[in-house]
Amino acid sequence: MSAAPEDAWAATGDRIDGLLFAPDPALEQAQRAAAAAGLPDHAVSANEGMLLQVLARGGGSRAILEIGTLAGYSTIWLVRALPPGGRLLSLELNPDYAELARWNLAAAGLTEGVEVRAGDALDSLDALLAAGSEPFDFVFLDADKGRNPEYLERVLELTRPGALIVADNVVRAGAVFDPEIEDPVLEPSDHEALRRFFALLASDPRVEATAIQTVGRKGHDGFAIALRV
Ligand code: DHB
Ligand code: MG
Repeated sequence: MSAAPEDAWAATGDRIDGLLFAPDPALEQAQRAAAAAGLPDHAVSANEGMLLQVLARGGGSRAILEIGTLAGYSTIWLVRALPPGGRLLSLELNPDYAELARWNLAAAGLTEGVEVRAGDALDSLDALLAAGSEPFDFVFLDADKGRNPEYLERVLELTRPGALIVADNVVRAGAVFDPEIEDPVLEPSDHEALRRFFALLASDPRVEATAIQTVGRKGHDGFAIALRV
């Protein structure tokens, strides 16, 4: 009898991680610290972290914006994409999570040009807009999914043509598109917001977008990947 697809996804993800990634003390320490502090297990996987890094570095990103830091696991992958003189700003609602992320980044030796800003991300984005912030050229959107449409509206104003915008968790095992499918974490209102997010990506002339489904130890989910044109 063949294994359940979820088992095959998890086992294959682990094999891919094992083949591609050497043990990484900074990332492992960040994961341990997050678990010890009782944070939800919502960080990206290693192969997703590397996808972010490859996209950011391949696109020559010098200024990265992350919305939703958690303990800084994806932040570490993204900071490592930056060239000398690059900068990263990560926005986190929970001040304790923000402090833990700062600690994890410092332990990883990644502080130069890196800021974790605590507070409501919409307020931080509006403050960046009001201050005439230099445009970002890579954005990772991974905070409260119910506000993705509002985040996108600001992000489109804060990015230059050529920038990449990547959003995590846009599939949720299909629950985003089918109310019969259970989502243990997100609410139907979040799914509705994610459908509006897709509609905005499809209709806004400032962006060309696709979405890819992901499977692995974290189940079935997906990334939206958009180019600011
Ligand atoms: C979950 C995963 C995420 O990547 C996230 O940002 C939020 C929730 C989850 O597994 O439920
Ligand atoms: Mg996520």
